[in-house]
Amino acid sequence: MAPRAPVALVTGAGVRVGRAIALDLARHGWRVAGHYLSHRPPRGLVPLRADLSSPGGPGALARAFRERFGRLDLLVNSAAGFEERPLARVDAAAFDRMMDLNARAPLLLSRALAPMLRRSGGSIVQIADVGGGLVAWNGFAAYAASKAALVRITESLALELAPRVRVNAVAPGTVLWPESYGAARRRTLARRIPLRRAGRPEDVAEAVRFLALAPYVTGVILPVDGGRRLAGRG
Ligand SMILES: NC(=O)c1ccc[n+]([C@@H]2O[C@H](COP(=O)([O-])OP(=O)(O)OC[C@H]3O[C@@H](n4cnc5c(N)ncnc54)[C@H](OP(=O)(O)O)[C@@H]3O)[C@@H](O)[C@H]2O)c1
Repeated sequence: MAPRAPVALVTGAGVRVGRAIALDLARHGWRVAGHYLSHRPPRGLVPLRADLSSPGGPGALARAFRERFGRLDLLVNSAAGFEERPLARVDAAAFDRMMDLNARAPLLLSRALAPMLRRSGGSIVQIADVGGGLVAWNGFAAYAASKAALVRITESLALELAPRVRVNAVAPGTVLWPESYGAARRRTLARRIPLRRAGRPEDVAEAVRFLALAPYVTGVILPVDGGRRLAGRG
């Protein structure tokens, strides 16, 4: 009998970067459950809906996943919020929104699915961000704090879940512009990228697949940023 395809769960699989990660895995022979909140993932993925910003959301998603799948080889935490909030516009609610969705949800989902990952000897890949995760950006303190927390969660879980489960992160630079950024702002920011252009969601997807399949790599935060982290702030 042919071996069964490995199984991945990708959060935020309905749009943009999460969608590209999920489709890339599916193209490479994985069975993929695509989590979403308001944008259903494309055909071929098994859709699972959950609001991950509530404390119970990650547990509910894990239960829905277990009802459909008997094994899990890869969890990709890609769903996130992104808010530009200069200091004068940060408040408790904005800070909590970033932390709840970008840091707490990946932690709780990892906890809920760790038993399945231990059984398979699988791995977790978090989608962090160069901005905040690795270097400070101007005007994004709450978002940056949430991605910095995700980086440290990644390293902590790499220790805690070893030796059975590997835990890594991809830290993208700009691979898809926020839709609110106009042409002038995009040009200015692109000039700060040593490779002089934005990346593509597929660049992140390939890095996720590399980390999923690299048996001696754990606790790594892999920048996919065209060198942006080396080129200053803002
Ligand atoms: N785009 C970039 O250049 C870039 C750069 C660095 C890092 N990243 C990281 O890459 C990942 C994807 O980025 P993106 O630009 O594709 O993100 P995005 O367009 O902002 O999409 C956000 C995703 O999060 C999901 N989501 C939002 N609120 C949610 C909630 N309360 N519960 C569950 N899911 C929720 C959305 O699901 P629905 O659409 O179904 O509601 C969507 O799939 C994020 O972790 C981001 O920080 C992206």
